[in-house]
Amino acid sequence: MFSRLAKSTTPVAAQFIANGGRNISTSNPRNVKVAVMGASGGIGQPLSLLLKHSQLISELNLFDIVHTPGVAADLSHIETRCKVKGFVGNDQLKDSLKGVDIVIIPAGVPRKPGMTRDDLFNTNASIVRDLAAATAAVAPKALIGIISNPVNSTVPIASEVFKKAGVYDPKRIFGVSTLDVVRANTFIADAKGLDPAQVNCPVIGGHSGVTIIPLISQCKPQVQFPQDKLTALTERIQEAGTEVVKAKAGAGSATLSMAYAGARFTFSLLRALKGEQGVIECAYVKSDITEATYFATPILLGPNGVEKNMGLGKLSTFEQELLAKALPELKKNIETGEKFINK
Ligand code: NAD
Ligand code: LMR
Repeated sequence: MFSRLAKSTTPVAAQFIANGGRNISTSNPRNVKVAVMGASGGIGQPLSLLLKHSQLISELNLFDIVHTPGVAADLSHIETRCKVKGFVGNDQLKDSLKGVDIVIIPAGVPRKPGMTRDDLFNTNASIVRDLAAATAAVAPKALIGIISNPVNSTVPIASEVFKKAGVYDPKRIFGVSTLDVVRANTFIADAKGLDPAQVNCPVIGGHSGVTIIPLISQCKPQVQFPQDKLTALTERIQEAGTEVVKAKAGAGSATLSMAYAGARFTFSLLRALKGEQGVIECAYVKSDITEATYFATPILLGPNGVEKNMGLGKLSTFEQELLAKALPELKKNIETGEKFINK
């Protein structure tokens, strides 16, 4: 079941992820507590299932405004050591965050056909603001992964909330853009007849339309496409979320692939927390790599979050053009998020 989670930077880590963290002895068996905020949703439930499977998570707190007692009761019967607790409603919000090391946030509304991710801003901005405020108050040192859209704006929102609370550490707040990498790997593998588990294509920028910049020139193994195919593949990766929204025809956006991607990212944070070296994931973070003040690039993860920003690498002329198109949009999205808190 978990073999597809075997994507990793090292064979040992690949084994760890393939096992969902089971059967690996570690010199640092520290218990790790994870909270999923929005745990009853389309992403939250399968993500929590994948996390429940990890031997390295000792406690899993599930928070939502509905249904978490049932989701927690269901998951708690699974034969893994991780203890699952449900927390429901704002009265239980702070309790759900006590002592947590990692907070993953998939709370908020998804798109319907015809909507952009920015159309979700009015609803999701305040949801992320309130969850970030509770985290800043109760678990200011947690590593935070934000899935809620529009990610380009919700990460600046959470950061501004942490600044206001006087506990901001830019190394600890991540926009989860892993699904873009997962899609790029899958589509490239399909086009070239490769095993997707062996493909690793960095995706930089942001998480919407033209701000999603797959760096196919840096894909490992190296792959070549004629320009028309390269353009089409790039556009498919940029619009892959919309492909799912259209196919679901009003029933929401990507949930299962996002749960997979969210679990992959959380497992990478866990591995880094446990002291494993060389764990790299692309993520949308506070950044001085380009003129956009938040930007996704490959990030070397450590116990305190961002260990090192690995930067852009060498871009092809085509990728430089994509970057030029992305930056104005990204800067606008960041400003919208920051203004929402500082208005
Ligand atoms: P969903 O509607 O199925 O689930 C959202 C959950 O959030 C619901 O259970 C809801 O009760 C809960 N919620 C609402 N307000 C809350 C609050 N204040 N506190 C806690 N929980 C709250 O939606 P979904 O399909 O799971 O998508 C969730 C979000 O993830 C959307 O914004 C979607 O656009 C985004 N998303 C991001 C990516 C990505 O790559 N980053 C991928 C897919 C979806
Ligand atoms: C995705 O990329 O699938 C998500 O951002 C959801 C969406 O609205 O496309």
